[in-house]
Amino acid sequence: MGGGWWGEPAPRPDPKAEAMTELERKRGGAPVPADWTYAPAPEARDIVSLRERYGLYVGGEWIEPHAGETFTTIDPSTEEPLAEIAQAGPEDVGLAVEAARDAFENGWSALAPSERAKYLFRIARILQERSREFAVLESLNGGKPIRESRDVDLPLSAAHFFYYAGWADKLEYAFPNRAPRPVGVAGQIIPWNFPLLMLAWKVAPALAAGNTVVLKPAETTPLSALLFCDVVRQAELPPGVVNIVTGDGRTGAEIVKHPGIDKIAFTGSTDVGKAIQRELAGTRKKLTLELGGKAANVVFDDAPLDQAIEGIVNGIYFNQGHVCCAGSRLLVQESIYEQLIAKLKRRLTTLRVGAPLDKNTDVGAINSRQQLEKIEQLVESGRDEGAEIYQPPCRLPERGYWFVPTVFTNVAQSYRIAQEEIFGPVLSVLTFRTPDEAVEKANNTPYGLSAGVWTEKGSRILAMAQRLRAGVVWANTYNRFDPASPFGGYKESGFGREGGLHGLEPYLRFDP
Ligand code: NAI
Ligand code: MG
Repeated sequence: MGGGWWGEPAPRPDPKAEAMTELERKRGGAPVPADWTYAPAPEARDIVSLRERYGLYVGGEWIEPHAGETFTTIDPSTEEPLAEIAQAGPEDVGLAVEAARDAFENGWSALAPSERAKYLFRIARILQERSREFAVLESLNGGKPIRESRDVDLPLSAAHFFYYAGWADKLEYAFPNRAPRPVGVAGQIIPWNFPLLMLAWKVAPALAAGNTVVLKPAETTPLSALLFCDVVRQAELPPGVVNIVTGDGRTGAEIVKHPGIDKIAFTGSTDVGKAIQRELAGTRKKLTLELGGKAANVVFDDAPLDQAIEGIVNGIYFNQGHVCCAGSRLLVQESIYEQLIAKLKRRLTTLRVGAPLDKNTDVGAINSRQQLEKIEQLVESGRDEGAEIYQPPCRLPERGYWFVPTVFTNVAQSYRIAQEEIFGPVLSVLTFRTPDEAVEKANNTPYGLSAGVWTEKGSRILAMAQRLRAGVVWANTYNRFDPASPFGGYKESGFGREGGLHGLEPYLRFDP
């Protein structure tokens, strides 16, 4: 996830824009890139054909929701309705679990592993072939910049299927002398920040290990999972191996408590994760949780500063900050504090906020009104508690959900903006003097998902990586992902790993 797209040298700031200190809201009309030096470069939307209304994908067929309930999914950058989505109830979840069980017992789990691999390779190739269509749909429904869905979400989604396809017929070697067998039916509940990628993280290892799945996408971003049903059809996957049910948290709760499910995989908020854990306590269901984060991005005084600035920006403004491993707490060594903050503010003035389908856009729309309200509320608390706010001059479209990239300085560790996951484009800056102080502050959080370290010294990188209580520690980079590398956290960031061999284990049983 690092490198390229945030990596270009920052264009020189526009002096006119610098003089504009207050955030200006444009009144009426279409978004106008007033002070931007780039002409509009919209990606064509017509590559995506949407249905007016979607059913549930169960047993290889589209079915209507039993209770007939639906809801509207929108484009968060314009609030334009895109399609009607089915709200699955208990009967529908029941049918999906039945279809998954049937497929598991009557063919899929007994299929030669190399045959399973063929299906996964097929899915990976189809995702590559249709990647432009998926990227546009992902940006349309979720608000993320097309540059990110095109260059990150889609390539990584395909890579996950390729990677796990490779393991499907090598499980005996991956877990020698442990006789790995599939678990059965997996219930998978995913969030809205990386809709297709989270689907890939969940579906690819589950199928590679010989399980079948019932997956629920998030209520604000169901469209790419529904388009994925067409990939499943194209790949000629046996009916019932992949079932997609849409709906809100109520549907998720039905999946969690369904007795026919053997394993739950959840990515989302810590609150819901805790509720799921309570629900499953005392049952035989396996569980993995990938929850929130409040990662420290630690910059030492010997760090390559320009590179660090790009890493900080990538760490918190990538995907509007809707990233569980976002570098939302910047820890800066005091001796370089002023220089770094000046550079960071200058870099922020060059970020282009606007239409997700414009190829020049750096920061897109906030995913939902609900999420926007949460960000606004936490930013308000930051002001109230006494932090100093900086927002670059920026014109926002009148319609849709938007938030200006924001930096808070003078932040105390006790402030809510230093403690709670904002899940938006808002950075809280703290300082430190010694490595010990950096470690103490970085670890002073209920979460433990990720961290970043910026320094010239290899020995310091290793020492920090060992002391930071985080599942992933990036050094002189940020937000880099690879399907071969396990990802996950501890403390309130959850448990279990996704990616790599570790990501297969939760989908296997090893008992005799
Ligand atoms: P959420 O945890 O409510 O939603 C995530 C998924 O869980 C969705 O598919 C949702 O329908 C489902 N869900 C909701 N309630 C459920 C229940 N009782 N049982 C089973 N499934 C349920 O997260 P939400 O409300 O969208 O976002 C709230 C906050 O959570 C965000 O502001 C952010 O801080 C955090 N979050 C973290 C994510 C991560 O990647 N770790 C992803 C999304 C949100
Ligand atoms: Mg929720």
